[in-house]
Amino acid sequence: MLATPSYRTLRNPCVAIVGATGAVGGELIRVLEDRDFPVSRLKLLASARSAGKTLSFRGQPLPVEALTPDSFAGVDLVLFAADAETSRTYAPQATAAGAVVIDNSSAFRLDLDCPLVIPEVNLETVGGHRGIIANPNCVAIITCMAVAPIQRRFGLRRLQAATYQAASGAGAPAMAELTAGTEAYLAGEAFAPQALKHPYAFNLFSHDSDVDPQSGYNGEELKMIAETRRLLAAANLPIGVTCVRVPVLRAHCMALSLELDAPVGPAAIRECLAEAAGVRIVDDREANHFPMPVEAEGQGDVLVGRIRRDLGDPSGRSVALFVAGDQLLKGAALNAVQIAEELLIR
Ligand SMILES: NC(=O)c1ccc[n+]([C@@H]2O[C@H](COP(=O)([O-])OP(=O)(O)OC[C@H]3O[C@@H](n4cnc5c(N)ncnc54)[C@H](OP(=O)(O)O)[C@@H]3O)[C@@H](O)[C@H]2O)c1
Repeated sequence: MLATPSYRTLRNPCVAIVGATGAVGGELIRVLEDRDFPVSRLKLLASARSAGKTLSFRGQPLPVEALTPDSFAGVDLVLFAADAETSRTYAPQATAAGAVVIDNSSAFRLDLDCPLVIPEVNLETVGGHRGIIANPNCVAIITCMAVAPIQRRFGLRRLQAATYQAASGAGAPAMAELTAGTEAYLAGEAFAPQALKHPYAFNLFSHDSDVDPQSGYNGEELKMIAETRRLLAAANLPIGVTCVRVPVLRAHCMALSLELDAPVGPAAIRECLAEAAGVRIVDDREANHFPMPVEAEGQGDVLVGRIRRDLGDPSGRSVALFVAGDQLLKGAALNAVQIAEELLIR
């Protein structure tokens, strides 16, 4: 019989979710339910504002508690889905209390002591964790799900991307703002945005993260570049990206161009992606049917289509793809729970 790898340490764990009332936190609760994750007890944590609220897990009402330094006593696994500052403050307290942490924020993603993991892409890195495992940025996850299988088979020299990012990527308040702003627009009423800086209804704008004055790249773009390089184990891979918010409630899209080591036809790319775990091909040229947010929403798989030669590269080495993925699921909660499943003693 094979020995159990030493990183598999969880059996029927007591699980805590930090940020349980948020967009990712709500999906974490649902994914734990849907995948029948063996939870012995679930503890729901959020800010003091939410203390006393009730959420449902497996048909039972559960109270939301305010996060404090004492929240982790007796907890084996903590799924963080709050802001990076909360993770920086409380994740070390959770590991000190003996729990393993899987963190959805950006706090530890570039910390080499914390593996940055997509199970389908670099599962082998999870064993090196020292208590904290980072869940990658949603754009990096969805991009790598399509790119990694191609990189593995054909070699990758360069990546160019443009994103079309949904409101849900900015959390529950941005989703509420898109809905309320659209209703106000249609009613001809004034609407002052609060969660995002710009009017969202019937508009799109450059990603809302801060812009680096030197490079002109925003925070989301810089995260995507750094994390994609780490995930693909390609520290010097040239990557260019433009990140844009579009008025879609849920599920991000990306237009990608991949320069490969040698020219590869669309049929071979399609064949490669058809074999990739967690990828579904949606590529019907006749019906003009390609990946769309409405079809990616609620799906664990990343949808890939518009597979064609990139005519912008005269060398013939580049292929173009269009990708859609539910960033609250594969881009956050599902990926985190998949990592947690790898920690279970089997
Ligand atoms: N949305 C996405 O698609 C996505 C994808 C990948 C990663 N992420 C990352 O996941 C994290 C959560 O994002 P989200 O979109 O779910 O945000 P969200 O909807 O705004 O939810 C934030 C959650 O954090 C809680 N929180 C805020 N301050 C806290 C504090 N001081 N102590 C304890 N809990 C606190 C909030 O509780 P209250 O309700 O009490 O305020 C809420 O439950 C972020 O780090 C984000 O970057 C998000």
